[in-house]
Amino acid sequence: MTGPTALVTGGAGFIGSHCCLDLLLNGFEVIVVDNLVNSSAAAVERVQRISDKRVAFYQMDLADQSSLDTVFENHKIDVVLHFAAYKAVGDSMNRPLEYYSNNLAGLLSLLTAMRKAGIKHLIFSSSCSIYGDAEGLPITESSPARPTNPYARSKLMAEQILADLCGRYCDWSVTALRYFNPAGAHESGEIGEDPSGVPGNVVPYLTQLAAGRLDELTVFGSDYPTPDGTAVRDYIHVMDVVEGHRLALEAGPVPGFRKYNLGTGVGTSVLELVREFSEVSGRQIPYRLAARRPGDVAELVACPDLAHAELGWTAHRTLRDMCEDAWRFQKLHPLGYGDPTNMIGSRR
Ligand code: NAD
Ligand code: WQD
Repeated sequence: MTGPTALVTGGAGFIGSHCCLDLLLNGFEVIVVDNLVNSSAAAVERVQRISDKRVAFYQMDLADQSSLDTVFENHKIDVVLHFAAYKAVGDSMNRPLEYYSNNLAGLLSLLTAMRKAGIKHLIFSSSCSIYGDAEGLPITESSPARPTNPYARSKLMAEQILADLCGRYCDWSVTALRYFNPAGAHESGEIGEDPSGVPGNVVPYLTQLAAGRLDELTVFGSDYPTPDGTAVRDYIHVMDVVEGHRLALEAGPVPGFRKYNLGTGVGTSVLELVREFSEVSGRQIPYRLAARRPGDVAELVACPDLAHAELGWTAHRTLRDMCEDAWRFQKLHPLGYGDPTNMIGSRR
């Protein structure tokens, strides 16, 4: 007997690939739709290798409605996990149309395909960035949403679309998971975070720096009203984020629209992170204090109580676990997924 079938959009990406692995290991059949705009097919290949299970992989753009409809015709899908999106805050300031188009048109064609196929259960990747410069800490789900850039606004708009959909159709079940700062890698070190170009996010920047691919970290801002003057974030291990998805799946489908913060509730400053990562990697991390990065806020820390109360979810892994696992992936794969021998159909 086969298990339930999950369609994972963006399943070749950082968080999606880790989620696919967890789904496969927990008895799901997995279908991935990804255009590889920010990822590599090697991630899907490695997920298959670690799990010893197959994934049905479709390299295609979500906006390609007829191909997407065909995927829903080809498989009996039970639930959709929607990760596919553009996700870089700074990039979204330069390319707002592309962000709205990709993140919202992609969602709309997905929902259209789901409706045609009669699939009404969705887990959506939302983001702490929708809170913007939060007034009170820690941030709860009822803290006001005040996004400050096109990326974050696209996520809030997506949530609003999903809430409207659930308002109109009472048998849809949608859960938006608002991740804080996911980082780290699967403990095997075989899959991890491998952004294209110079990393904009601090953790992959640190791992590539420690691996000798970069020279120096620029610490954006040392005059924030925080204990050491650098900005504080709630870094959460990617496998804890993955467990949040599994618990949300196990809780459902429950009709209606729900949203949960996925964070640890613990804040870490940039300098604390640098220290931790330096200890774990045994490498010096040269850094330079510089001006604040435009659009950054002083402190973002989650109140994760709702996810704990309603989903039974808690982040178990520590900052050290996160640094160790991120470093293991980087050490084992200094070029990330860039090694051509890792591609599907290659010798490995
Ligand atoms: P990622 O870029 O690694 O993964 C996204 C995947 O979606 C990529 O594989 C990309 O190729 C694919 N994709 C993008 N647009 C597509 C399209 N139109 N059609 C098909 N595939 C497409 O990003 P990630 O870090 O894994 O993030 C996953 C999700 O979580 C995103 O929705 C992101 O906004 C959200 N999120 C991420 C973070 C974070 O810090 N990583 C935090 C909060 C929320
Ligand atoms: C963390 C801290 C930087 C790089 C964004 C989104 C959030 C989520 C994660 C998607 C900040 C500092 C960084 C560097 C630095 N993504 N930094 N030097 O901006 O908190 O969060 O990505 O939804 O929603 O808003 O993450 O990793 O870029 O930065 O000093 O080279 O590290 O200023 O204080 P951020 P980040």
